[in-house]
Amino acid sequence: MIYPIYVYGSPVLRKKAIEIPEDYEKLGQLVDDMFETMGHSEGVGLAAPQIGLSLRLFVIDATQVEEDDEEFVPDFKKAFINPVLLDTKGQEVGYNEGCLSIPNIREDVFRPEKVRIRYFDSEWKLQDEEYDGIRARIIQHEYDHLEGILFTDKINPLRKRLLTGKLNAISKGRVDVDYKIKTAAR
Ligand code: CO
Repeated sequence: MIYPIYVYGSPVLRKKAIEIPEDYEKLGQLVDDMFETMGHSEGVGLAAPQIGLSLRLFVIDATQVEEDDEEFVPDFKKAFINPVLLDTKGQEVGYNEGCLSIPNIREDVFRPEKVRIRYFDSEWKLQDEEYDGIRARIIQHEYDHLEGILFTDKINPLRKRLLTGKLNAISKGRVDVDYKIKTAAR
């Protein structure tokens, strides 16, 4: 099932999401639906708050992403359940980010280049892994969603001011986008 994407201005995007209990029913279905929703909207990552569920879960499919314009990142399609960001390391690097909840806006965001993350995979196996490059970037962006943080919170204040009109329009649903969206008003 394809969910509509909650966009900028939706209160659920600003909440700190809660942990998923291990006996949560239909988790498998939810993970499948999130992959389907993300694929439909051509995203590389999707966090549960973006479909209106304030739960600590995100999915990533970066198999199509090119890194440094040449290096492909194969085999990076995963669900992260109850993730804990244990550490971020390395230099802060800039990258032009976008977000399905903030359609048609891309801005440079600086983030540390490495992460260590602990999470449960879709089989409820505990994983503890380190990532760098584009994977570390996407993980940090999606993890922020679970904390109620959006990438526009991390950009230069002047750039953010220049985006005010566009962000207001998005929050009212006045945006040209190919997937179904949900605003706070509806
Ligand atoms: Co996002």
